[in-house]
Amino acid sequence: INPILENDLKAAIRTIPDYPKPGVLFRDITTLLGDARAFRRTVDEMVQPWAGMKIDKVAGIEARGFILGGAVAHQVSAGFVPIRKKGKLPHKRVSIAYSLEYGLDEMEMHEDAVVANERVILVDDLIATGGTAEGAVKLLQKLGAEVVAACFVIDLPDLGGADKLRALGVQVRTLLTFE
Ligand code: PRP
Ligand code: ADE
Repeated sequence: INPILENDLKAAIRTIPDYPKPGVLFRDITTLLGDARAFRRTVDEMVQPWAGMKIDKVAGIEARGFILGGAVAHQVSAGFVPIRKKGKLPHKRVSIAYSLEYGLDEMEMHEDAVVANERVILVDDLIATGGTAEGAVKLLQKLGAEVVAACFVIDLPDLGGADKLRALGVQVRTLLTFE
């Protein structure tokens, strides 16, 4: 993305050291979300390569991926699919265990949330180790979805997540990097 925009969006993100665990530099996007102009420009940039293309569903990862994914779904006129932490979805589910930068968890999707061959864009705020996004891609693929791309505001390239997803054959779009 254009470097001036990149600097503006980076400046809208707050960094909290040692949260939620010692040694983690937590990239807090609530400050970006609270800035009307930064929020709008972020959503516009996330979907820019797919503007005008047929996308059936946007899948957002709980919790921060819901906020961005809902806005992205509206932007590309797609339906929205929540990928949730274990125990939150009421209907029949598919689930998968995954690890992330600071822990282990399990995520779930309704088994009828996507149908075979639907074109899906995955959205989250940040990719670190890629464990979370990889789990989400596997759930979507298990239901037969075509994962067209995975979009994130922030990439932590030192943790290798974006490369891990690309190795699975998924196109990855990230707007900002923090080393
Ligand atoms: C954060 C972030 C991503 C994930 C990235 O979510 O929003 O989903 O970690 O880490 P990874 O690439 O190492 O897997 P978190 O699990 O903290 O949940 P939250 O959005 O509910 O705070
Ligand atoms: N998820 C995984 N690593 C993270 C970080 N450093 N900041 C915010 N969310 C994260």
